[in-house]
Amino acid sequence: MIEVRPYRPRFAAQVFGLPPGTRLGPAAANALRQAWLDYGVVIVRGLHYGDDDLVAVSRVFGEPELAPASERQARGGGLRPDVWVVSNVIENGRPIGSLGYGEAEWHSDMSYLAEPPTASLLYALEVSPEGGDTWFADMAAAHDALAPDLKAAIAGERINHPSSLTATGDLRLGATRPADVRSAPGTLHPAIEVHPETGRATLFLGRRRWARIEGLDLAASEELLDRLWAHATRPAFVHVHRWQVGDLVIWDNRRVLHRRDAFDPAARRIMHRTQVRGSAVGRG
Ligand code: SIN
Repeated sequence: MIEVRPYRPRFAAQVFGLPPGTRLGPAAANALRQAWLDYGVVIVRGLHYGDDDLVAVSRVFGEPELAPASERQARGGGLRPDVWVVSNVIENGRPIGSLGYGEAEWHSDMSYLAEPPTASLLYALEVSPEGGDTWFADMAAAHDALAPDLKAAIAGERINHPSSLTATGDLRLGATRPADVRSAPGTLHPAIEVHPETGRATLFLGRRRWARIEGLDLAASEELLDRLWAHATRPAFVHVHRWQVGDLVIWDNRRVLHRRDAFDPAARRIMHRTQVRGSAVGRG
């Protein structure tokens, strides 16, 4: 029997009673999916997942999306193409995963794609004793609380979601540093999207660095983006997750931004992430 206990009335919930990913029946799968739609972030604790469980539970939300291509190449072969390793651990002189130990800035996963992932799932295999917390911000609540003038300023605008940088500010493999934010490659998305499944309006901001608002001069774009980001990441919209081994966090990448605190480089932190293929159908 699945039980859902919210942290806030409409954002972030812990789910209890989930069977292993490879043995999820239709009732458990439906309850999990509904909790994800209702709360945007779903946390399950005390699991003993292998990658088969992680990929099986990912299928509750849709088809697995390949891990970011450049990162997959960087960490070599031998791993599943749909599981992305997030880690600071170095073995035989090579990082076993991506994002290291530094702060990861606020972002949506892979929003440089025309059809960004709908869900992201992050499973903790090893965690740092301190630091490494992951923060989630509710962009549906942020949209609803927009000041009228800010809402009017971004209505109908599109934001370029840059593709060249990871959330820790590193250049992706094969990317080059643009001379100017205006020439940063990326994908345009509406600043306000209507969630195709819940019908709620949400801010869809991607990441701040190297973003720009289409058609505005650079100074105006920077000023408007700074205002938007300051609003969107206010503590009122944020839930912070302190990890334990065996935690699985599933978030709605269309509704939720996330960031990660830095942690001690000498500590080991290993997470496996999957992402679920997006669809342009129904995007606002
Ligand atoms: C991510 O941005 O997907 C990883 C977040 C984390 O390492 O907690």
